[in-house]
Amino acid sequence: MAAHWILHLALLLLSMSSQQVLAARQQDRHTISVQSLLSSSICSSASAVPVSRHGAAGSTLQIVHRACLQTGDHETVPDHHYTTAILHRDRHRFLSIHRRLTRAETKATTIPARLGLAFQSLEYVVTIGIGTPPRNFTVLFDTGSDLTWVQCLPCPDTSCYHQEEPLLDPSKSSTYVNISCSAPECHIGGAQQTSCGRTSCQYSVKYGDKSETRGSLAEETFTLSPLAPPATGIVFGCSHEYISGFNDTDMGVAGLLGLGRGDSSILSQTRQGNSGSGSVFSYCLPPRGSSTGYLTIGAAAPPQSKLSFTPLITTISQLSSAYVVSLAGISVNGAAVPIPASAFSLGAIIDSGTVATHMPAAAYYPLRDEFRRHMGGYKMLPEGSLELLDTCYDVTGQDVVTAPRVALEFGGGARIDVDASGILFVFPVADDSGPSLTLACLAFVPTNSPGLVIVGNMQQRAYNVVFDVDGGRIGFGPNGCS
Ligand SMILES: *[C@@H]1O[C@H](CO)[C@@H](O)[C@H](O)[C@H]1NC(C)=O
Ligand SMILES: *[C@@H]1O[C@H](CO)[C@@H](O)[C@H](O)[C@H]1NC(C)=O
Ligand SMILES: *[C@@H]1O[C@H](CO)[C@@H](O)[C@H](O)[C@H]1NC(C)=O
Repeated sequence: MAAHWILHLALLLLSMSSQQVLAARQQDRHTISVQSLLSSSICSSASAVPVSRHGAAGSTLQIVHRACLQTGDHETVPDHHYTTAILHRDRHRFLSIHRRLTRAETKATTIPARLGLAFQSLEYVVTIGIGTPPRNFTVLFDTGSDLTWVQCLPCPDTSCYHQEEPLLDPSKSSTYVNISCSAPECHIGGAQQTSCGRTSCQYSVKYGDKSETRGSLAEETFTLSPLAPPATGIVFGCSHEYISGFNDTDMGVAGLLGLGRGDSSILSQTRQGNSGSGSVFSYCLPPRGSSTGYLTIGAAAPPQSKLSFTPLITTISQLSSAYVVSLAGISVNGAAVPIPASAFSLGAIIDSGTVATHMPAAAYYPLRDEFRRHMGGYKMLPEGSLELLDTCYDVTGQDVVTAPRVALEFGGGARIDVDASGILFVFPVADDSGPSLTLACLAFVPTNSPGLVIVGNMQQRAYNVVFDVDGGRIGFGPNGCS
């Protein structure tokens, strides 16, 4: 509420200044429609047909933004409350990753796997088939965790959160098998814990905020794409209980698809089960409603795409499930931002589950200052007007916004020239007592964790991102979504 008041004051101040003139269009800048950047436009692709762009080479799924699952009359327009909520979840995810870093001596199996509100911050979903005959389940996908799980029957009302689709019913599938206590699968390493139940192997995955999924460790047939042969014998968690550490009883999704580097991830398992495909997956996160994203497991990006690669590195042993690369620098409109190399010493996690890119203060402030210099034509809100975002501009009533280009330069020469939708958060600020504002805010966040960067999903949008795990590298290529 306090933030709201401050914002209201800012609104009054702003209304006294005349609207600024747009900077002339320059080739090295992004000039983009404000409307297309408003978060409310992210859902218009939700009804698009499944994509099939890689033929038989892999299993391709269409990616949809989680917000688009909420159908019906009560669709919420993402405003500044929504943005603030996202950033709070991001912060929790970041802090739990940071905590793991600073607890070097703790054994991996006793560290909370993935992280509390982290689950809440996952933004993108795909629909997969599970069982025989296959039934569809819409799940979040997470490059930062390993074990895939979905909610299963039996699950008394209070034990499961609400989801849109019916729960998985093992009795309706001819391929469901509980894993026995003596099976080697019952001792898969990684963040999940296993124990021996009355009849079979039980698992649990605990998150940083005390939320937890528990149930039977089982094997099933997964249909990762209607166009590809099903993968048999996939070990997953059949969740009979979800203990919520936060107040969200309606997560909408059926569970989570784990795409981490660990042995229990779907990636490692489909490699073992299918000698034809290496350990590789790729995606394009759609930037806005007019484009369609994809997730392909078992194949790289389309052959015609121009990719540049950066090596996977292992600077962070506590985060063995994470995809870490080295970040060499950041540029604004082609000019390198002066950032000390120590700011990137631990590397950069490429994460599908963090929204905005998080970086140490020593990197963020030089970036922010350079960015501000290029935004001189716009009226900046006083710092502190908005929680968690310190570089916000009033773009109310403007058709387009012109922002400098921001590029992330990785080791080995790979780069992401960040899509305009990944540079600015654009959202309306509704106020009962006055006209609503439209704000555009720099979508990067400072942290006090030296050396560690997390490249969020906003900054990966519109790129083909190829996780070539066997090849030890990650590739980036522009114009990945169709
Ligand atoms: C599951 O989803 C696929 C792709 O979206 C669709 O083709 C198929 O008909 C669905 N199956 C069921 C049983 O709803
Ligand atoms: C799997 O194990 C659970 C208990 O852990 C049990 O309730 C269920 O009936 C078992 N399912 C099958 C198909 O054996
Ligand atoms: C969460 O829900 C519990 C019980 O429903 C309530 O006591 C608590 O205050 C809520 N917490 C928040 C942060 O809303």
